[in-house]
Amino acid sequence: MELKGRTAVVTGGASGIGRALILRFAGDGANVVIADLDEPGMASVVGEAEGLGVKAIGVRTDVTELSQLQALAARAFDTFGAVHVLCNNAGVAAWGGLESATHRDWQWVLGVNLWGVIHGIEAFVPRMIARGEPAHIVNTASMAGLIASKGLGVYNTSKYAVVGLSETLAKDLRPYRIGVSVLCPLGVQTRIRDSERNRPTALRNERAESATPVELIGRSLAPQAVADMVLAAIHANELYVITHEESLEPLRRRFERMERAILDRRR
Ligand SMILES: NC(=O)c1ccc[n+]([C@@H]2O[C@H](COP(=O)([O-])OP(=O)(O)OC[C@H]3O[C@@H](n4cnc5c(N)ncnc54)[C@H](O)[C@@H]3O)[C@@H](O)[C@H]2O)c1
Repeated sequence: MELKGRTAVVTGGASGIGRALILRFAGDGANVVIADLDEPGMASVVGEAEGLGVKAIGVRTDVTELSQLQALAARAFDTFGAVHVLCNNAGVAAWGGLESATHRDWQWVLGVNLWGVIHGIEAFVPRMIARGEPAHIVNTASMAGLIASKGLGVYNTSKYAVVGLSETLAKDLRPYRIGVSVLCPLGVQTRIRDSERNRPTALRNERAESATPVELIGRSLAPQAVADMVLAAIHANELYVITHEESLEPLRRRFERMERAILDRRR
């Protein structure tokens, strides 16, 4: 898909991977809509995108609220007439064993990482279909959506759901010429380890201490490198954007265990 003159919307676009996606799309001539909680961060990315010669707007959006995604979609379509690329990317991480996860941890992490994506689909897909133009949706999951690392259970749960949702969405939207990609990185140099900054007061744990972030295997990539891979996946209409080749062995081991579970029963 040619991006010049088209419109891209990115949730979580004020920082990290979302910011890199915005600047990548703007660099290719797309007008961009940045949706985030972080208003100063959005203003700065709007300025950077405008510096690349495109139109850019920031819309304060909490992805945990369907009404805010609906308002975002209305604003994006009213301003630019159509949306060709939607990246449901906003996300947060919480660490610690599942035996000590609090109800607030579940509500917060699933609220942003899973419901945020669902809300994006509910708000944008009917409008994209009605518009009838080719479009593409990128959902940010993680390698944590394909491999379940210890100490990341709440996050893993949200990201496995995003992978399943995206795999189905790709099939369901094919007749409408809307492609779907699911982004599954290992480490990326962003502010994800400082996710607590985004936790609403009502969902803060009574005891403030939080577990140490899990160390991921492999390299920590620059967000720009990830954005390049996303752009290539949009052009090629590829479902899986697996950014780290370090993922191959753990993925292979997981599927081998499943294969063994089937083959062992045959004996
Ligand atoms: N950084 C990594 O190593 C890594 C690896 C795999 C997947 N991811 C995923 O990448 C995505 C982007 O995260 P990042 O690494 O760039 O982190 P980041 O913290 O730099 O950026 C996340 C952005 O999401 C926004 N956000 C948080 N809660 C929100 C809400 N309720 N509504 C709207 N915006 C909200 C934040 O303000 C921030 O701008 C997330 O879905 C994350 O799970 C990150």
